[in-house]
Amino acid sequence: MKNVAILGFGTVGSGVYEMLSLNAEKIEKAANTPVKVKYILDIRDFSDREDAHIFTKDFNVILEDDEVDIVAEVIGGIHPAYDFTKAALLKGKSVVTSNKELVATKGAELLKIAKENNVNYLFEASVGGGIPLIAPIHNYLAANEIEEVGGILNGTTNYILTEMFENGQSFDEALKCAQELGYAERKPEADVEGLDACRKISILMSLVTGKFCDSEKIYTEGITNIDEEDVAYAEMLDSVIKLVAYGKNTESGIYAAVRPAMIKKENPLASVRSVFNAAYVKGNAVGKVMFYGRGAGKMPTASAVISDILDIAKSGGYKGYFWEEEAKWVSPAEVRESYFVRVSSKDEGKLREAFSDKDIIKLSGETEEIALVTEPLTEKSFEDKFRGIGVIKKIRLLGEDE
Ligand code: HSE
Repeated sequence: MKNVAILGFGTVGSGVYEMLSLNAEKIEKAANTPVKVKYILDIRDFSDREDAHIFTKDFNVILEDDEVDIVAEVIGGIHPAYDFTKAALLKGKSVVTSNKELVATKGAELLKIAKENNVNYLFEASVGGGIPLIAPIHNYLAANEIEEVGGILNGTTNYILTEMFENGQSFDEALKCAQELGYAERKPEADVEGLDACRKISILMSLVTGKFCDSEKIYTEGITNIDEEDVAYAEMLDSVIKLVAYGKNTESGIYAAVRPAMIKKENPLASVRSVFNAAYVKGNAVGKVMFYGRGAGKMPTASAVISDILDIAKSGGYKGYFWEEEAKWVSPAEVRESYFVRVSSKDEGKLREAFSDKDIIKLSGETEEIALVTEPLTEKSFEDKFRGIGVIKKIRLLGEDE
């Protein structure tokens, strides 16, 4: 028998509890032992529930109970999740989590404590919701040097952009629906400003490089500036706009960013709709591998949390998840990207001079702007080419095969 304590009875915590009871037989078979929820920690009062006896408001009850093998931390945020996780690991209990904020900021320290105590700190649910992603990368791509990792890692923004493109919904209407469906973070700014995707790419890059890739050093731009004109231009270019997080691991260092991208419809990322996520991993032997599934929501996230519980329940021992000293970063100025660029139409002459080989794009109807698509440019070459030209907006461009 393995005893689990769930910390936090919110959307994910209640999903974990429900799934452990709904699929109890299947889970017992997979773990080769029954997996029982012994405690649920929450500050709210649940005394009128039938199962009130398993609820506690006191973390020490869980900490001091040697029968608790695995703690599922699904509170989110840094405090008190960090203190509880650290205490549990130091007590020799494994911890599984969906808390990307904590993994992205304190992961190095918590993984070290887990290693020193021969237990595990597993975080499958922190990236890509229900998609098995962390364990497959760690276990089945381990022989590869990972050169690149990325994709659509935030369900809320993907849902919003899909609604804007396909159903003409406004940004605010679509965000409200995403919140009602339980996809969004407690503070939706974390989704729409790109912070949630930034934490996820920080975790993936730390995982694949074995070095701490600090989310604070990742260029992050959300989707709040995407407007109807961008949607109209994207449609003219047979493209869609998605929030893409990506990281490259090169010999000279690593680079990571989160930003909206205009993506050709033939690119597999373009067909990832609604709350679905897709992540790609490029290994030096395997080439590109893609993972696809529901990136947010109660039961998909619960499924990922339970996959970690099962992994630990099946076989104990330290599983080798680790990252330590800070990664070496490549300066963003060295990175080359192609862009879709909107400029004031009064600068058409200068634009044609700077990009004589490029087509100028115009929306139909009265408009005071024009646009074009550039070749790959560094930050410096972009500035040089567009000097004296009124740039309204630039969006990264992804071709069919990128
Ligand atoms: N708010 C997150 C998302 C939840 O929308 O993807 C899953 O991490």
